[in-house]
Amino acid sequence: MTRSVRRDQVFRLFDTEMLELVEALSAESAARGFRLCLVGGPVRDLVLGRPVGDVDLLLEAPGQSREIAAELARSCLPEAVKVVGYGRFGTARLELGAMKLDVALARTERYRSAGALPTVEAATLEEDLFRRDFSANALAMDLSSDAGGTRMPLIDPTGGLKDIAERRLRILHDQSFHDDPTRALRAARIGARLGFGLDRGSRARLRRALSEDVLAPVSGDRIRREFEKVFSDPTQGLDPVLALRHMDRWGLLKAVDPGLTLPSDAVLPLRRFGKAVSDPPWSSKRLRSWVVGLSIWLADVPAGVRQRSLRRLAVRGEATEQVTGFPRFRSQKLSALGKARGRGAVDGLLAGISEENLHALHAAADPAVRKKVSRWAAEDRSEKIPVTGSDLLKLGLEGAALGQVLARLRAGFLDGELMNREEGLALAHELLRRRSSRASRAQKARTRPKADR
Ligand code: CTP
Repeated sequence: MTRSVRRDQVFRLFDTEMLELVEALSAESAARGFRLCLVGGPVRDLVLGRPVGDVDLLLEAPGQSREIAAELARSCLPEAVKVVGYGRFGTARLELGAMKLDVALARTERYRSAGALPTVEAATLEEDLFRRDFSANALAMDLSSDAGGTRMPLIDPTGGLKDIAERRLRILHDQSFHDDPTRALRAARIGARLGFGLDRGSRARLRRALSEDVLAPVSGDRIRREFEKVFSDPTQGLDPVLALRHMDRWGLLKAVDPGLTLPSDAVLPLRRFGKAVSDPPWSSKRLRSWVVGLSIWLADVPAGVRQRSLRRLAVRGEATEQVTGFPRFRSQKLSALGKARGRGAVDGLLAGISEENLHALHAAADPAVRKKVSRWAAEDRSEKIPVTGSDLLKLGLEGAALGQVLARLRAGFLDGELMNREEGLALAHELLRRRSSRASRAQKARTRPKADR
């Protein structure tokens, strides 16, 4: 296993302007006797040759105050860079236009009780690495050192490289899952993404932690955030089913709710949705992937378990309605879409549904319906027809009648029955004429004496 990474690979993580800032920060850190490091996920991914996700930096400045990262950045970076110091963890956020980079202070964390947030103190790099979740995530590279020529040495005080070579996640001390029980959920997610198992000792510690009910005091928001990542991480190659299977096998789903499982009917749709997240079949604005994931997954668990799980995960507002309503919505829409003939009919069934419901429906559908849904989402829904609501208002239509005529015209254009504005307006006139004669017939029927009827 490599013990160093090519310098140019590391620098390629930053675009040109950001690299200049990182170099200035590194030089200033070295001049003050500090170290500026790349740590955690990005180093692990560089070692594995995988695409690197978010990049944060770590400043080692033991004994310094919490403001040191922000102060150091302000002292050496151009004024155009906005430096915001924030948080209990002494993090400085650098902003240059749309670019952002977080520089955290190396720290130790002490947990007063299981699941509580820790108290924090500036510490050495090694101490910071030892407080982390898994050895594979406890690697660092010193950007402020010029030792090593074209390669940058890896700092590996916990044996992370060996664990990466043997493809396992290993916790760094016996209390790790007690200190931060969300690490159990992370293990399932990161293990599934990297194809790593949980080493035997860590498995035993996890079983013990779960037997002591360590997830019970953890807030719903913190647990839900881990599930949110399960359904957005497919962009980094995660199969959500693998992560949920680990959680099921390790007893984590039961710890969320005793009745919670991964139903076999949810497996294929979840996998399909995972693919849609990493390779979108159409472009979606503001898609909350986790709402889609929960909708698909929980549609096949008993309604009571679904309700309790949503409460436990502190899912609120519109998201709760979407997940709760999905089983019914799914059976109605799938059967109607199966029967729908023509693009106009599909448009009538799908117009106005939320992006989350659309994706969940697509994942749950058979191939023929899937094709209808994706063609509508990618093409037809953004199609503008050459007759508008105000055209119909001018003809004297209004309210529900206007909506119905507009929907009929839209279906006509999508099905190729109407070709241009003139044809659209002609049909609108015809529909209006039919409406008026229906209305006058009805009126006549009402005014005719009873005996004649
Ligand atoms: N970390 C930890 N315990 C946690 C969460 C995070 O020790 N409960 C540490 C890990 O060392 C991790 C780093 O903080 O590498 C950054 O956290 P995050 O960005 O969440 O993790 P990544 O490993 O970068 O995950 P991803 O690849 O999903 O971005």
